Amino acid sequence: MFNRFFPLFFVFLGKAQEQAEINYYAELISNVTEEAYTYQLPKGAYEYYSPKKRQYFGSYDFIVVGAGAGGTVVANRLTEIKNWNVLVLEAGGYGDDATDVPNLYGPIEFTRYNWGFNSTPQTTCCLGLQNHICPYPRGKGVGGSTLINGLAYSRGHKSDFQKWEKFANSKRWGYDSVLYYFKKSENFVHNDKQAPYEPQYHATGGYLNVEYHEPRSPQLNAYLEANKELGYDIVDYNANKIGASPVQLNTIHGRRLDGGKAFIHPVRRRKNLKLLTYSYVTKLRIKNGVVRGVEFSHKGNNYVVQATKEVILAAGVFGTPQILLLSGVGPRKHLEDLKIDVVADLEVGSTLRDNSVFYGISISTNYTEPIRPLKEYVKEYLNGVGPYAIPSNDQGIGFYESSYTKGTGIPDIELQVITANGTSALAQRMFYLTDQTFEDLWKYVNIPRTFNVWVIDLHAQSVGTIRLKSKNPYEYPLIDSNFISDPENRDINTLYEGIQLILRLLETKALKAINATLQGGPLRACKRYEYLSRDYWYCALRQLTINLYHPLGTCPMGTDPKKGAVVDSELRVFGFKNLRIADASVFPLALAGHPNAPTVMVGEQAGDLIKLTYLKYVD
Ligand SMILES: Cc1cc2nc3c(=O)[nH]c(=O)nc-3n(C[C@H](O)[C@H](O)[C@H](O)COP(=O)(O)OP(=O)(O)OC[C@H]3O[C@@H](n4cnc5c(N)ncnc54)[C@H](O)[C@@H]3O)c2cc1C
Ligand SMILES: *[C@@H]1O[C@H](CO)[C@@H](O)[C@H](O)[C@H]1NC(C)=O
Ligand SMILES: *[C@@H]1O[C@H](CO)[C@@H](O)[C@H](O)[C@H]1NC(C)=O
Ligand SMILES: *[C@@H]1O[C@H](CO)[C@@H](O)[C@H](O)[C@H]1NC(C)=O
Ligand SMILES: *[C@@H]1O[C@H](CO)[C@@H](O)[C@H](O)[C@H]1NC(C)=O
Repeated sequence: MFNRFFPLFFVFLGKAQEQAEINYYAELISNVTEEAYTYQLPKGAYEYYSPKKRQYFGSYDFIVVGAGAGGTVVANRLTEIKNWNVLVLEAGGYGDDATDVPNLYGPIEFTRYNWGFNSTPQTTCCLGLQNHICPYPRGKGVGGSTLINGLAYSRGHKSDFQKWEKFANSKRWGYDSVLYYFKKSENFVHNDKQAPYEPQYHATGGYLNVEYHEPRSPQLNAYLEANKELGYDIVDYNANKIGASPVQLNTIHGRRLDGGKAFIHPVRRRKNLKLLTYSYVTKLRIKNGVVRGVEFSHKGNNYVVQATKEVILAAGVFGTPQILLLSGVGPRKHLEDLKIDVVADLEVGSTLRDNSVFYGISISTNYTEPIRPLKEYVKEYLNGVGPYAIPSNDQGIGFYESSYTKGTGIPDIELQVITANGTSALAQRMFYLTDQTFEDLWKYVNIPRTFNVWVIDLHAQSVGTIRLKSKNPYEYPLIDSNFISDPENRDINTLYEGIQLILRLLETKALKAINATLQGGPLRACKRYEYLSRDYWYCALRQLTINLYHPLGTCPMGTDPKKGAVVDSELRVFGFKNLRIADASVFPLALAGHPNAPTVMVGEQAGDLIKLTYLKYVD
């Protein structure tokens, strides 16, 4: 309704219009928040089913499947070449004024922008959740998961890319090369002058804005001071450092910058770009080892569309393997069990990785976040600041070594600090907590006084899978997250060390000065153990370790398909000349960071790789 692309425009509006805009957003926020309590997430993709006969949709040079974090970048870069025609097929629609508001992070999960996937019932994690099922939200629409994500901009550590380079056997994926691509996308705004940043790691002029939230919460400052007391520096965490910092966010003047707004909106007038929303891809057309096109449904009709050069899959860590499996590209045994003709025997979906996270730490303080009328918050939001300009008050971040990496400078524990108001009553619904878990954990905390610290296992060793439930393309796949299941227990030990680190931070003067006190417990499910004992925490970890919504690696990059690799260093699916993947599926390992920035990097690389293939140059 209002022009969401030019927030500064607001400055020039008259008083009456300003009031109208404030009223509109206040109503919108109330509506979306209220509806979140009853909205039912879909159980499958049946809305896309149509019995109609398939029609021919035409022919394009390139077809990009999925307009998420990776797909939007590829679409942008390919259409820089004027004589290439590019069709982008995306299952959802465009973002709106509600997805723009970062603090609608929780409610937005309960809208048409979330596919609403679930894990299968788990035995090693998510035990405090209903039926031991972990939620797996994924964004649907132009921007993909960036329409609903936490917006934290975090690239991973340089050692991750040294490993990636080895997996790929290609310098293209080494640190110098990926740094070039990170900077190519970036527009860094150093608006929090107190936050240290290292200019050689950042750039301006790219499509993806990176900025800090303002103002800081006193709880964040106390957390940062506590870090200093323990000897941790306040650092630019995107410069390969151990230490803590305010979070760098993909917002622009306090509004969500989803992939659609960042990479599609500025180039939407290009004549060679056709982005078709509400289009659900069900299958690749493959003949004699060549991908000829894709089948999709769109608004009650079924189509087939031809690709003369390439198909680029960017449907995300679940969508991409699902489409491949439905097309006969996957583990032979699995496909045969489902009576799908095997086109290529590859380990598609056999390695689901993630950063698992323990949600069980809340800390009360004697700082009370002021409670003010919604319209005041809206006014601040429209000026780019305040609590509504940040997803769920996720203000602080810290990267630390565990005993497994001590002395190497390589972080494998992350703490995320969700300052006051991080747990709304909606939290139970978001995390599928049982009534008992919710009562033990969050039901009785004083929300404006309490902050949460999430403990994250960065280099998670546990590996899950994604498999088809049936050959019906409208049925959701089976997602077995399998967190904290590695036989060496490295994952659970690392999370336990993260908890111990928080308990040490609680002993600092800085946190004592706000009377920081551990809340959230004891969990009745762990009552057989002495509260706060090691055994208690290991029990609690199995109850409340879920996922940070960072799934990746379901079609990993590598050199040998016999050892599980699905794509080569040029993002090509093994055995196919004209089929690439450009999304988080290709990561060969869980990174010491969040996956959005690296997915954008993969999209940038895909653009250049395709140009190199057909034009022999990149500019
Ligand atoms: C709640 C949440 C919080 C997160 N927080 C952060 C964070 O703070 N920082 C961070 O870095 N990362 C975060 N992430 C993760 C990050 O957003 C993803 O890693 C990233 O968006 C992955 O990009 P992608 O291109 O692989 O997939 P996506 O961005 O998910 O895009 C896939 C696209 O393909 C479409 N699609 C799927 N199947 C089909 C089909 N069959 N036909 C047509 N289209 C299809 C989807 O609708 C979607 O638009 C979060 C994710 C979630 C869900
Ligand atoms: C809020 O919901 C009401 C009732 O459904 C509706 O009339 C109104 O238009 C909605 N407002 C906004 C801004 O979405
Ligand atoms: C913080 O939480 C309190 C209590 O739940 C609520 O009244 C207040 O509006 C919240 N503030 C924000 C900015 O969401
Ligand atoms: C918070 O508690 C500390 C320590 O108990 C005390 O010194 C301080 O004055 C308190 N601050 C407020 C705002 O109540
Ligand atoms: C500090 O917090 C504890 C636990 O919430 C409470 O019992 C105590 O009274 C608080 N002290 C001060 C000085 O606020």
